[in-house]
Amino acid sequence: PGSSDFIVVSNRLPVDRVPQEESDDGWRRSPGGLVTALAPVMATREGAWIGWHGAADETLAPFHHGNMDLFPVPLSADEVELYYEGFSNSTLWPLYHDVIATPEFHRTWWDTYQVVNKRFAEAAASAAAPNATVWVQDYQLQLVPQYLRALRPDLRIGFFNHIPFPSPEIFAQMPWRKAILEGLLGADLLGFQRPNDTANFLRSARRFLGAGVKARQVHVNDASGHFSHISRAEPFPISIDVAQIQQLAKNPDVIARAKQIREDLGNPTTVLLGVDRLDYTKGITHRLKAYGELLDDGTVQVEDAALIQVASPSRERVETYKQLREDVEGMVGRINGQHDTIQNTAIRYLHHSYPVEEMVALYLAADVMLVTALRDGMNLVAKEYVAARGDNSGALVLSEFTGAADQLKQALLINPHDIDGLKAAILRAVTLPKAESSRRMRSMRRQILAHDVQRWSEDFLSTLAQKAVRD
Ligand code: G6P
Repeated sequence: PGSSDFIVVSNRLPVDRVPQEESDDGWRRSPGGLVTALAPVMATREGAWIGWHGAADETLAPFHHGNMDLFPVPLSADEVELYYEGFSNSTLWPLYHDVIATPEFHRTWWDTYQVVNKRFAEAAASAAAPNATVWVQDYQLQLVPQYLRALRPDLRIGFFNHIPFPSPEIFAQMPWRKAILEGLLGADLLGFQRPNDTANFLRSARRFLGAGVKARQVHVNDASGHFSHISRAEPFPISIDVAQIQQLAKNPDVIARAKQIREDLGNPTTVLLGVDRLDYTKGITHRLKAYGELLDDGTVQVEDAALIQVASPSRERVETYKQLREDVEGMVGRINGQHDTIQNTAIRYLHHSYPVEEMVALYLAADVMLVTALRDGMNLVAKEYVAARGDNSGALVLSEFTGAADQLKQALLINPHDIDGLKAAILRAVTLPKAESSRRMRSMRRQILAHDVQRWSEDFLSTLAQKAVRD
């Protein structure tokens, strides 16, 4: 055994190894919601983080970062292709997001997924102190709980799925559905974003494993058919570091930067904002279509309402992502070509990722935030926008297909597939009377302020610590 009492295991470490010329110290913060949520949790706890460092064919020694011990897990170039780009992001990602893109099922990808999951489990097993708590994260590592339990039965194992869990009707397509469910059920506690994800998982366990399920508890038998333990599955909607966003939103430099952004845009009456990884689940083309049609119809003028779309680069070697980039950039070009004037641009399209200070400046600069995901486990951008709006101004247009819609009920909820409905909601957001927008924002802020990511992690870890979860 190792010496860590608390370990997080995720596909990615909170920092990525990048070439020296791209950052001062050769490291850069990793993209995505998982790291946004977990980095502040780990900042307040002593612990170890096991994960891939983002570069292929490179083995790195463990090192210290903030108050964490980081244990880099190496992946070969083949494994990056088969396990990460393949099984994780061309099989599981589309399947779990309700087949927005067609999932591909390849046996070689599955083989490598198992090999890599074993490696992560072994890394956790050798870092963990006796009776330690290990918290495994997300769809890339669904077999780790079972492998880890076999290696180290003394550990307390939690698993949290950051993305949706599909209905059994969709999950049925997965050729290795039984092995995945058994992998997950190695955990004592399984956390999901929404009650519906939890129900989907439990229905799948019942249907495909014939498992005994009662009151969100699954009775798990070992390979020889003997009862071995109980796994519990529950919703734990993830959140953000509210204090950090609030503090930045009050910072004079950030406020000045927000003002500058509006000036640089030519001081339009309304600034609309979209912030996403460039991912087909985010509904970016639906959003552009709606905004473009509002300009075409003449309902909105380019001088009045400008759209900033931040689309951070993601999974760039995967074909569906390449295609999406072409689609988005084609639409941006067409809409801008048609509607720009010398002075004003309809869409500021930014294919970059930005530090959190710049993101908060953008939230402050935006009158309307557009979150139009076709499917999203949670969507932390929506929560960050709300947390940043300390004066209760601003409007949030939010897809009902996000986990965040469960909590942000006072947003202007939309179905992104309904382009007319989306257009109407954008117009409504632009023209919302001040009293109504501040009533809505106040209510959403109350929710977010009371449910930050520290509370999320405490809820999960205290449930995991309960004796009843173990036996
Ligand atoms: C989502 C997933 C994370 C993932 C992140 C970024 O938030 O839930 O597990 O790390 O996207 O994606 P990437 O493939 O770049 O790690």
